[in-house]
Amino acid sequence: MSNSSRTAVVTGASSGIGAVYADRLAARGYDLILVARRADRLHALADKLSASHGIKTRVLVADLAKETDLADVEAVIRRDASVRVLVNNAGVARFSPFAASSVEDNASQIALNITALTRLAHAVLPGLVARNDGAIINVASVLAVHALPISSVYSATKAYVLQFSRGLQQELASTGVKVQAVLPAATATEIWSEEISGVPLSALEPSRVMSAEDLVDAALAGFDEGETVTWPSVGDEGLWTTFDAARAAIFAATQTGTPAARYTKA
Ligand SMILES: NC(=O)c1ccc[n+]([C@@H]2O[C@H](COP(=O)([O-])OP(=O)(O)OC[C@H]3O[C@@H](n4cnc5c(N)ncnc54)[C@H](OP(=O)(O)O)[C@@H]3O)[C@@H](O)[C@H]2O)c1
Repeated sequence: MSNSSRTAVVTGASSGIGAVYADRLAARGYDLILVARRADRLHALADKLSASHGIKTRVLVADLAKETDLADVEAVIRRDASVRVLVNNAGVARFSPFAASSVEDNASQIALNITALTRLAHAVLPGLVARNDGAIINVASVLAVHALPISSVYSATKAYVLQFSRGLQQELASTGVKVQAVLPAATATEIWSEEISGVPLSALEPSRVMSAEDLVDAALAGFDEGETVTWPSVGDEGLWTTFDAARAAIFAATQTGTPAARYTKA
């Protein structure tokens, strides 16, 4: 991924992981389209990165959980032939026991983490395939494979991101378009606040929390290595191989057409 006059779209670029992706992709020479709701943050970052890296930047102020804003962003990235990378990073966590959660919080997590991510990938993909070049980086979470009593909806949205990415990887295997799923563990960003997730950063064990800079640098190192599923904080890469082999084995074992003997005892 070292290109000049090519554009990367980063959603959720106004803070945290997305802001670091924007910085790192600018350093690799990409022009940027930065998307989020907070215009002041996006413009400050855009000005800084265009000054420091000599790239072109565009800001799209959009609430991706709102139909009209999402449609506007889709239209821009669908018709921009310079787009080579989409970092589908914007996401929200609302941690709460499901029965105590609000309808709005559940809907907003699904709208942003699933619907917006899917629609933006769909908007950008035909152009990438036509040019046989480019990448979609989907930011999932380690909670894609793990549910907590307060994360039923969030974990489910991230499981979607992982499976969506894996399906796309198979569809695009014979093209020059790459899809990477990134699964961060706890990362020091604003998501850890009373206002967003409901859990402040101070509630986390500091030794288990990665910086956003380390997270993005590790994820991009994985991308450069051609990884399709990247676990930035996992030292033993064999764990994922074993996990995925078990997943494939249980799927293969479902293909029998008959109930298992334990369910047919008289
Ligand atoms: N931090 C972690 O521990 C962690 C772990 C695993 C996965 N992740 C994932 O990493 C991604 C980035 O999160 P982060 O940790 O960097 O959190 P963050 O600092 O809160 O960043 C979230 C970004 O998403 C944007 N956003 C939120 N709601 C939006 C909406 N309705 N429309 C458009 N943009 C919206 C925010 O910008 P505005 O508020 O300006 O709109 C912000 O730029 C998320 O997908 C998250 O699920 C994070």
